[in-house]
Amino acid sequence: MSTALNHPIISSEEIRNIFLDFFKNKQHQIVASSSLVPGEDPTLLFTNAGMNQFKDVFLGFDKRHYARATSSQKCVRAGGKHNDLENVGYTARHHTFFEMLGNFSFGDYFKKDAIQYAWELLTEIYKIPKEKLLVTIYSEDDEAYDIWAKSIGIHPDKIIRIGDNKGAKYASDNFWMMGDTGPCGPCTEIFYDHGSHIPGGLPGSKDEDGDRFIEIWNIVFMQYNRDEKGVMHVLPKPSVDTGMGLERICAVLQGVHANYETDLFVPLIQSAANITKTSDIHHPSLKVLSDHIRACTFLISDGVIPGNEGRGYVLRRIIRRAIRHGYKLGCRQPFFHKLVDDVVRMLGKAYPDIERNKQNIALSLKQEEERFFETIENGMNILEESIQTLIKKNQKTFDGQIAFKLHDTFGFPLDLTADICREKNISIDQKGFDEAMEAQKSMARSSNKFKMKIDVDYTGDATHFSGYEAMECKAKVLALFQDDMSKKELLKGESGIVILDTTPFYAESGGQVGDKGMIKTSNSSFKVEDTIKIKAKIYAHFGVVETNSLKVSDEVMASVENDSRKNIMRNHSATHLLHKGLKNTLGSHVEQKGSLVDESKTRFDFSHPKALTSDEIKSVEMFVNQEILNNTDTEAKTMHLDDAKKSGAMMLFGEKYADEVRVLSIGSSKELCGGTHVKRTGDIGAFKIISETGISSGIRRIEATTGFNVIHYMNEHVSIIDRLAHDLKVPSSELLSKIDQIQDLMKEQEKNIQQLKSKIASSESGNLSKKAISIGDVKVVMEKLGAADAQALRETIDKLKAELKSAVIILSGVDQDKVTLAVGVTHDLVNKIKAGEIANELALAIGGKGGGKPDLAMAGGSKPELLDQAFSDCLTQLKKIILN
Ligand code: ALA
Repeated sequence: MSTALNHPIISSEEIRNIFLDFFKNKQHQIVASSSLVPGEDPTLLFTNAGMNQFKDVFLGFDKRHYARATSSQKCVRAGGKHNDLENVGYTARHHTFFEMLGNFSFGDYFKKDAIQYAWELLTEIYKIPKEKLLVTIYSEDDEAYDIWAKSIGIHPDKIIRIGDNKGAKYASDNFWMMGDTGPCGPCTEIFYDHGSHIPGGLPGSKDEDGDRFIEIWNIVFMQYNRDEKGVMHVLPKPSVDTGMGLERICAVLQGVHANYETDLFVPLIQSAANITKTSDIHHPSLKVLSDHIRACTFLISDGVIPGNEGRGYVLRRIIRRAIRHGYKLGCRQPFFHKLVDDVVRMLGKAYPDIERNKQNIALSLKQEEERFFETIENGMNILEESIQTLIKKNQKTFDGQIAFKLHDTFGFPLDLTADICREKNISIDQKGFDEAMEAQKSMARSSNKFKMKIDVDYTGDATHFSGYEAMECKAKVLALFQDDMSKKELLKGESGIVILDTTPFYAESGGQVGDKGMIKTSNSSFKVEDTIKIKAKIYAHFGVVETNSLKVSDEVMASVENDSRKNIMRNHSATHLLHKGLKNTLGSHVEQKGSLVDESKTRFDFSHPKALTSDEIKSVEMFVNQEILNNTDTEAKTMHLDDAKKSGAMMLFGEKYADEVRVLSIGSSKELCGGTHVKRTGDIGAFKIISETGISSGIRRIEATTGFNVIHYMNEHVSIIDRLAHDLKVPSSELLSKIDQIQDLMKEQEKNIQQLKSKIASSESGNLSKKAISIGDVKVVMEKLGAADAQALRETIDKLKAELKSAVIILSGVDQDKVTLAVGVTHDLVNKIKAGEIANELALAIGGKGGGKPDLAMAGGSKPELLDQAFSDCLTQLKKIILN
């Protein structure tokens, strides 16, 4: 490694600070990095650019008190539109996690100032020689060309026009888009020439992917908003968004070529080498580890938990890729989490969150490592065997079915398998993998069919849902089904499905169960056992006709079972408050992972790396109960999704929401929700957490209840306490100390019993020596000592040995079905008679195990009824040995 590394001329910390200060001096507001999890933007997997947090400002939806900003933004480009995961470890400049330095103008300065600022900072402050720089512009952007050529004075040979080189209008390296939709515009990029000794061609040439000319700064002229259909709408005010990768500018300013040689990586690589005991400091796997640990540390710190979908799965893939590289270096046990401390030491000052969360981060990583280490060995064996077979047969495609098995059984993400294959020039049969995946999904689907048949063919009108306002309403029967057959009439005792034109019955969705109740005409009744949507707006009432019959076109009264629904509403509203309370108490990393609300409870799954303490549980409970006592009105508003996002309503990442959404404000919580809720928080009555458990790595589950159920729950517990107080004859306030006393007493008594057993055994030993029988010169004692335990038996043997001098002693104690045996042989006899062997034989005879040393051995068994026989066989045996 070069000297520049060990003695960086300028540290990454200084480079970051100089950038921010430079723009501060140009009237830019320094803005902190936003989270890697883009809070209110479900279009984005991870924050991938400095401009993300200003998206709405560019679009004109949001206003800030500043028109110029600068930031150093945490970014992850793995999964999603900008995905560099595959390149990491193979190039000098790609990372999963990186820091983006940026300056932004919101309708303030535009192209000229943006270019001039960048040039001034690079050449005058960072002092990069001008001849080392060149630029690209969007081919149509003559304005940018003129600024570079005329105002800055760059030689025209060094201004390269890049057109729509990606197959469609605006699909260009020089037209930047955040995602498929959102603010975008043409850009100009500044490149640094690392020198002719490094392979790589000019931007736009066929060798542009080499490492010689490296883009260091991208300056985007935000001019359009691209909608879902790809239509470009001109933005209200032209703006500027720039991004410079800190890692790349550090490489330039620290005089090294690869980002991995900068002070942002060298200490991490060193530490990874120590932890994995790797002597080759240039091993590519160390680069991968140093990159991935940064991504994992920051992602977990921002609340992402390794899992099977969405962001959690991207994180899992990064972790597993890192583990596999550690595995390659010889690690067979969790090691990766040990690097968290190094990342925190290096970046904790700039990003204090990782310092605060470091324990959770390391714990989460360790748990994930433990999981993968359980299966990696078997998976790697299969993978390597398959690769060897391919190589022998000179084939180049890895079987998709095996790749799927590795994914499904051994937790190998497909890109991990692909990564390993790529090292051997083998590609994956993606089609075979997809087919295997699809086959498994359809098997899961068919075994998951709802207990009642719901593939009915209904093409009539949609159902109007009146259940937000009312528990009952008049309605008309539109259709009836029995199994999947359309019926004109359902007779008494027949089960089936009723479809109404309007219904107060809530159909199961969003974790809330379907309603129960009755559908009645003046002389007939249908008992509704469950309600489910069979298509988007078609509500199916499942149940049975109880009186007379129900016919299509009947005018009915549909009534939801009041108590049940009220309980459900209490539990559902409490779920929102619980969610909020968990975030308040534990932190913003808490994300809903699942929920089930029925009449007896709410069950809420959420991400959090460890069990809640009892103080945390109490604090969440207090929070919810305080909200209940505040007794504020619930408010439900239907609004456009964009407005809902702007209002700060919580929504679940990965959920598909319609354009119009229902925003529910209850207490201090605001969430998108289609469920039914109480009118005021006070209607919940009371809230109690019943249990808190872990259901998988990083996911906790709380079960809680509300209203009368809390009273029932409390009453049950109070009656247990009352009963205990009564039986133990103390007031309930003294129960705990009474139980402590009882436990102490029991311990004391246990000790006394032991002592007594020993005493009895030793007092018997006096008589025992008299009972010894003589076989030749040897005395043999073979006796049952009541319920004596192992210790008492051993002590007695010691005494008898001392008294009898030359003896074989076999003693037993029987406690219910448990037989304990001790065998002692005095030293003079151990050459001839081995206690261990006798114990073993006896044990076999009484259904147990035994063994020990030649002079003392123990045995246990479970068949006391066979003891006499065992003793007599043993005696015969002894006689033979002694008298021979
Ligand atoms: N948003 C631009 C980028 O990420 C600056 O390259």
